[in-house]
Order: sequence, then C-alpha cells, then structure tokens
Amino acid sequence: MDKILYQIQKDYLERFRKPVDELITEMEEYAKANRIPILGWLSAEFLEHLVMIQQPKRVLEIGTAIGYSTIRIARHLKKKSRVDTIEKSADDIEIAKGFIEKSGVSKKIKLIEGDAMDIMPDLDKKYNFIFIDADKEDYKKLFYYSLMLLKKGGVIFIDNLLWHGFAAAKKVPDSYKASAKYINNFNNLFTSQVTLKTSILPIGDGIGLGVKIG
Ligand SMILES: C[S@@+](CC[C@H](N)C(=O)[O-])C[C@H]1O[C@@H](n2cnc3c(N)ncnc32)[C@H](O)[C@@H]1O
Repeated sequence: MDKILYQIQKDYLERFRKPVDELITEMEEYAKANRIPILGWLSAEFLEHLVMIQQPKRVLEIGTAIGYSTIRIARHLKKKSRVDTIEKSADDIEIAKGFIEKSGVSKKIKLIEGDAMDIMPDLDKKYNFIFIDADKEDYKKLFYYSLMLLKKGGVIFIDNLLWHGFAAAKKVPDSYKASAKYINNFNNLFTSQVTLKTSILPIGDGIGLGVKIG
C-alpha cells in the first residue's frame, strides 16, 4: 500500500491521466531508468495548473535535476515570462541541457549552475513563484532565502512535505528517521509563518503551498 494515497485511489486517478507528449514520456522513462527523483505526474499537473492560473512573470526553481518540472513550467509561461532554475549536480546539468534544448521553450529557461545556498543570497530580483525541490536538509535555509525573494502575492510550492509517508508515521525505519524529523521540523516552520497563507496537500509526496500575504 502506498503510504500517502491508497493504491486503489492512485490507480483510479491514473485512468484519467491525459497522454503526454514524446519528450515528457522520454524524460519520465529516463528518470525511472536512472533513478532520478522527479515530480510525480499528479504533482506535475498540479504545478502546471497553478502556473496557468497565476501566470507568473518570474519563476525560481531550486532543484532542476534533468529539467522535467522546469520544462513543464516553462511550457505554460507567457511569451516574456521566465523560469530561473538552479542545479548543483554537474551530471544532471548536462542531461538537463540536452532535454531543455529539445523542449522548444529553451528561451524561457535560465539554468543556473551551482549550489542554491550560495546563489540565492546573490539574486537581486524578486519572483512571483518559487518551487523548492532540493536536498531536504537544505530546506530551512532555502525557504528563508525564498521568503526574501518572493513578491507579495507570490506563490511558494515545496515538494516532499509528507516524505514518503514517514513525516506522519509512528514507526519510521532507521534510514528515514533523521530526514523525517527534519521534514517535521520544517513543516512546523513553514506553517507558522505569519507572512504566508499555507497548506500542506496530500498530492504526490506532499506539497507545501504558500501565498505571501505580508
Ligand atoms: C528531486 S530532484 C529535482 C526534480 C525536479 N524538480 C523535477 O521534478 O523534475 C532534486 C535536485 O536538486 C538538486 N539539489 C539539491 N540541493 C541543491 C542545492 N542546494 N542547490 C542546487 N541544487 C540542489 C539535486 O542535485 C537534484 O538534482
């Protein structure tokens, strides 16, 4: 049984999934074959919907991996809107560049190479939408940097806040204990911000959604 959504519900929802194009299929297969974590399809579709609704001019993504979510965001941006995406893994950067080149939306994507912990303090322009999907132990700092970079009315979208079901589990395997504790602490921090209206949604691996209200 899946630890967040019952398998029967997942299978049911899968029946309504619309077919995706060749590039997205190729990326999903590449990620699976190479064990690269990317957004699940439900989370990716939800992300696309938010981008379609909000029409952000400037998006910041932390954690590009192979560029899967980056491309899905960029495809829904208006002509002059942009997504800046930060990735620190040289291997992933090479793969992401290839896929972005093929995506048809490369002009809307700026791939920033390096550690977001070093890069974010130097970013000077604010963003309408920030998506955090990086190493969990970096979340707290990345979140604080994001709060400074998020415009009023802007949206923050954070993946993995239910952490494979272990954030809420009574019994957590040893290998997940530290990360589950980390995510729990982070969830307290995230939901107690007075400048954000927040929810944690049971979509995919748990999505933290916040809107900057102050
Ligand atoms: C879960 S994957 C991102 C998946 C991608 N958002 C998607 O859904 O297609 C996380 C990525 O974040 C990168 N990463 C983790 N911590 C980072 C940091 N501090 N700065 C930049 N990249 C980071 C990792 O190298 C990894 O490629």
